[in-house]
Amino acid sequence: MAAYPAWDQDSARSIIAGLAHLEGATLPILHALQDEFGHVDPQAVPLIAEALNLSRAEIHGTISFYHDFRTTPPPRRVIKLCRAEACQALGCEALVAELAREHGIAVDDHQAKADVAVETVYCLGNCALGPAALVDGELIGRVDADRLAALCGSQAGVRA
Ligand code: FES
Repeated sequence: MAAYPAWDQDSARSIIAGLAHLEGATLPILHALQDEFGHVDPQAVPLIAEALNLSRAEIHGTISFYHDFRTTPPPRRVIKLCRAEACQALGCEALVAELAREHGIAVDDHQAKADVAVETVYCLGNCALGPAALVDGELIGRVDADRLAALCGSQAGVRA
């Protein structure tokens, strides 16, 4: 995963200024900020509101409406878990439930402040050996919740 620079108000300001003239500039600005910093820091809200002459509530509403926008820095590492049909038939949904229940790890929690995140993908081409996961480029078959939690826990700072 790409390393992002720390949030910087001056850089954010210049990104916003460069796009504020666009029609419907809110989304392009939010995407540009997330591309640059890996997330849209809450400090961006008043800057965007002021630049676009909108209320802070409107900007905040847009950020929360689109689930792809993160308001916290992204995890250093993402584990992809397949939840497509074949892996569903082999128990991936039970695995997701167990991960949450037994290990406190929520899949696709884009606001989690963890070093490691587990995110859904649809088919890793490892269907016969599901549930399948991709960890640091390595395909893992027949993964279970304990193994996935251990892989998450091997990174310091993960939520437990
Ligand atoms: S359905 Fe999960 S790897 Fe293909």
